[in-house]
Amino acid sequence: MKGGVGKTTIAVNLACALASQNIDVALVDADIQATASEWIALGKLPITGYAIPLESLHSVRRWFESEERIRRLVNQMLTVKADIEVIDLPPHLSGSAVASLAVCDLVVIPCGASAADISATAKTLELVERAREIRSGHPPVLIVPTRIDWRTGAGRAIESALAQLGEPIGSGIAQRVSFADSLSIGEWIGQYAPDSPGHHEIENLAEIVRGVLGESNAPDLRDLAEQARTAEAEAGGLEPEPGMAT
Ligand SMILES: Nc1ncnc2c1ncn2[C@@H]1O[C@H](COP(=O)(O)OP(=O)(O)O)[C@@H](O)[C@H]1O
Ligand SMILES: [Mg+2]
Repeated sequence: MKGGVGKTTIAVNLACALASQNIDVALVDADIQATASEWIALGKLPITGYAIPLESLHSVRRWFESEERIRRLVNQMLTVKADIEVIDLPPHLSGSAVASLAVCDLVVIPCGASAADISATAKTLELVERAREIRSGHPPVLIVPTRIDWRTGAGRAIESALAQLGEPIGSGIAQRVSFADSLSIGEWIGQYAPDSPGHHEIENLAEIVRGVLGESNAPDLRDLAEQARTAEAEAGGLEPEPGMAT
């Protein structure tokens, strides 16, 4: 998805809202720009962060064609131990996006009200379709109207515009100064402005996400990982992907 739409803001706030419901949450920062890692490094958030930038693996086509790469990545993602793992992706459709599609239980796509945002979302959905072909219809998608100014015509029309994409629409996140301000001091919205409208928006989103994850019957990733480890052991072992806990 395009830069600046609010991916990192949603990833971090969603992860923290889930953590505030006593869920063990890890945030995987797959963006080489490391915005989420910088936010976590300020030390105020109730989540653990892992930096797994995957930008060197850039060919989308190669990712889909290489089961081995995907298996390796499944292993790497699963070294992160948490009940819910939120992955914050870089702006463009890249190896990390494809790899995440290969392992995730849900794709949350923030989408602004502009025509450019909606067209970027449509491109992301094409990639999701490729994943669904190889994962028996998984993963599900939730499109989240983001940075919406409800006073504008485009803002008010966003839900009907997004409905045409044919995927579930999550509750919207408005354009609010508190989202930008909380980020700049390393807090999530529930710390910075508890009980504010922005906090409630994020809590609603977290509820919807929990609901979808609860219904998900995606193949158990731990089984896939075990299969991958066995295959790698038989193939003589492979170096792990670069990745580190922050
Ligand atoms: N809902 C929002 N309201 C106001 N500002 C926002 C909102 N979401 C994101 N921003 C601001 O927009 C900028 C880009 O957001 P970010 O989450 O880093 O986007 P991305 O990860 O998609 O590049 C940041 O300065 C952030 O504070
Ligand atoms: Mg980002």
